[in-house]
Amino acid sequence: MNGEPDHTRIMAETRAPNLGIPPQACVIEGILDPCTIVIFGASGDLTARKLIPALYNLYLNGGLPQPCLIIGCARKKWTRREFQGRMEEAIRGTGNLDTSQWPPFAASLYYQPLDYDSARSYEELADVLRNLDEKHSTGGNRIFYLAIPPLLYKTIAQMLGEAGLSAERAGGNGWLRIVVEKPFGRDLATATDLNQTLHQNFREHQIFRIDHYMAKETVQNMLIFRFGNAIFEPIWNRGYVDYVGIIAAETLGVEHRAGYYEQSGVLRDMFQNHMMQLLALTAMEPPSLFEADRVRDEKVKVFRSLKPLPEKNQDENLILGQYTSGTIDGKGVPDYREESGVNPESLTPTYALMRLFIDNWRWRGVPFYIVSGKRLPEKLTQIVIQFREVPHSLFRPILGEQIMANRLILGVQPDERITLTFQTKNPGARFCLRSVTMDFNYYQNYNGPVLDAYEKVLLDCIQGDHLLFWRQDGVELCWSFLSPILEQCESCPERAEQLHPYEAGTWGPEAAQTWMRLIIGSRYG
Ligand code: BG6
Repeated sequence: MNGEPDHTRIMAETRAPNLGIPPQACVIEGILDPCTIVIFGASGDLTARKLIPALYNLYLNGGLPQPCLIIGCARKKWTRREFQGRMEEAIRGTGNLDTSQWPPFAASLYYQPLDYDSARSYEELADVLRNLDEKHSTGGNRIFYLAIPPLLYKTIAQMLGEAGLSAERAGGNGWLRIVVEKPFGRDLATATDLNQTLHQNFREHQIFRIDHYMAKETVQNMLIFRFGNAIFEPIWNRGYVDYVGIIAAETLGVEHRAGYYEQSGVLRDMFQNHMMQLLALTAMEPPSLFEADRVRDEKVKVFRSLKPLPEKNQDENLILGQYTSGTIDGKGVPDYREESGVNPESLTPTYALMRLFIDNWRWRGVPFYIVSGKRLPEKLTQIVIQFREVPHSLFRPILGEQIMANRLILGVQPDERITLTFQTKNPGARFCLRSVTMDFNYYQNYNGPVLDAYEKVLLDCIQGDHLLFWRQDGVELCWSFLSPILEQCESCPERAEQLHPYEAGTWGPEAAQTWMRLIIGSRYG
């Protein structure tokens, strides 16, 4: 069967009980250690758009320890008051500012100007930290969050080490953690090199490599869905699954990030991290315990089993594209090559569709179609499990009808839902089938607080839980898979011909049509 069936959507009633759990119980478990969070890159976009709003929202929901101090660090010579004012503006911009709750939160915000490569700056920071530790009894627990361009990761890790700010002393001067955002390198060699510097100064248990996709509610739910139910696991394999489709489509273009994106393209920006995590959660074996390293061990086994794309005719398994001008949501948008900061002759892909295989007992021979692209018609992240057709259709000779195979869709965003399509008899005298869909909305009957991805990862860092973070072996295995592909794409003489243009607002290049239909079915049009 090709694509999503043209089925009748019958809203099967799903009953999700309201458990009556007090809202706070869904935010934290137990008591959190007091701590100080040092944000490097405090004058930047990530801090204002994501980190401070996330910390503030956690605060509003009782999800921060007491005390929890936040020290912004950046080159700008701001005063503490200026930092507080700018962060207040940022929160006001989110529409979430509660004027009675802001002053107590703002009282925990500090600012320390810092030159990233000056030893003196880190000594001053160490003094500030010591004083605040004493004054507020934070127990010396610290998180260093690198919200800065990746080029500075190594410098900061090294400087923290030299200033004595990275080593957890036996007997306890509190815990010390460092948070790194992707990209973790731009290929295997640079990822290994970054890791060496991190490890010269921090131990693996102190390092938190963030991938915000892992913290999305419905992505977290995949483990529960797969391993908290007995009925799916026995059919979750090559015997029953025809193919798997994983899509992360965006309407956004490159925005103001051309400097970074031109060097990355979609394979480094989305595949190396988010798409690989979605793949691992779909394909992994059940871990023996719901515990960070057990789960990460199983993911790593998936990465280790990825079948390398054949070097010859790579384009048979990989379609790359770049958007041209078009219309999104009724508005005209420019060609990628005309975006500010983009090389007018750029060969950077903004779309990729890869067909890959996992060489293990469970998945051998089942194609996984992984696709991500910018400037597609809608924001859509979902995982499609397309089951095989019935082995023998007893109805076909009588009805001459095609029996649609079952299809399970795990919607990640914007629709957070699970749908399962199956066959029923159409009521009435005539014997005919109809394909119906059972539809579960993830937030049905839940009215507690909802944590956004950054709130969840920050909370997990404070709790020291690595479950939703990358481990270095996973990073390196994914690079081992992707680096040869990237090398081949970037060095092949037909590079320009292999980059298919697609009009913004369409579902990608025409060359990808057949596979796209498999993944998004009737949406493709
Ligand atoms: C980021 C990528 O990691 O994820 C961006 O760098 C992309 O290019 C973004 O737009 C998508 O995230 P989300 O949560 O909006 O799907």
